[in-house]
Amino acid sequence: MKTLLVGYKAADLTPELLAGDPVCHVLDVYHRHAIEKVHHARAVCSAHLPDGPWDLVRFRTGPKLMSGELALDLLQECHRVCARVEVDFVGRERDRNDLLAKITGDPDRVRSFRAEWPASVPGGPPLMFTSYPGCFCHRRLDPGGLALAEVAARELAAQGAECNLLDMGCGCGLVGFLIASVVVGARLTLVDSHARAVEAARENAAKFGVDAEVILADCGTPPRMDGSFDVFVGNPPYYSDYRIADVFLETAKRALKPGGACYTVVKNAAGLKPVQERYFRQAEVIARRGYSVLKSVKE
Ligand SMILES: C[S@@+](CC[C@H](N)C(=O)[O-])C[C@H]1O[C@@H](n2cnc3c(N)ncnc32)[C@H](O)[C@@H]1O
Repeated sequence: MKTLLVGYKAADLTPELLAGDPVCHVLDVYHRHAIEKVHHARAVCSAHLPDGPWDLVRFRTGPKLMSGELALDLLQECHRVCARVEVDFVGRERDRNDLLAKITGDPDRVRSFRAEWPASVPGGPPLMFTSYPGCFCHRRLDPGGLALAEVAARELAAQGAECNLLDMGCGCGLVGFLIASVVVGARLTLVDSHARAVEAARENAAKFGVDAEVILADCGTPPRMDGSFDVFVGNPPYYSDYRIADVFLETAKRALKPGGACYTVVKNAAGLKPVQERYFRQAEVIARRGYSVLKSVKE
């Protein structure tokens, strides 16, 4: 029996689920590595479910695990790739029934959850960004990312030099593409651990006509890029305090050339500044839109 498990993380996988050697689908490279490391199980990280054929798809979801849009989008995909779908719902029975009714009510209706929204930096054209459920800031502009893009774009445009720029945790590419819209000669490398983010960033690169390299990777294990960048930008997630920001900054230190600039953004600088100053001698705080952009230069 060929089984696909969707939405399960390493901690959710029991011996019973893993019996019969299923394939685990995840959206984030980090979860693929964890499943492979902890369980030595087969894991696939991709923006969409692998085609199969599958005898059974088991889908773990719930309001605390993912957004309603992502749940519905993935459930549609489960039904697309397999006739037999079992939903392992974490939450209230009523919410489970609501989700299932959206699919069973009209099984032939396939909804698109792709969104487009505009963003720009001063002096640059308006860009229509595409995003997908699961992608950070789906359907909306993140003000922290915009603050980071505005500060870095202003400084880099004023310098006027060509630069190799690494946008770590790029999401749909908001920061990198906004900077490239005003910095002539910016060459972009975008990295994200989330397959839906990378899909959106690649689509946006093509739409904006930017020749960017977009890489699906966990920044703890990126392709070798040491010392090749003039600029690093990162708007790391802060849901696990500064653990991921720390990995971003460690990567920034390695990726930058001597004299290269590292820009990060956070709501309140007090927590991030000492972390950034563990990797760089000094972090200058630049206030923008209620956020703090922290700038350091590699010695
Ligand atoms: C706060 S979002 C920022 C997205 C985009 N740069 C923006 O400003 O709108 C952080 C991004 O980092 C990505 N991310 C989280 N941990 C990561 C890691 N270890 N390596 C690479 N990307 C990571 C997430 O998938 C997410 O897209």
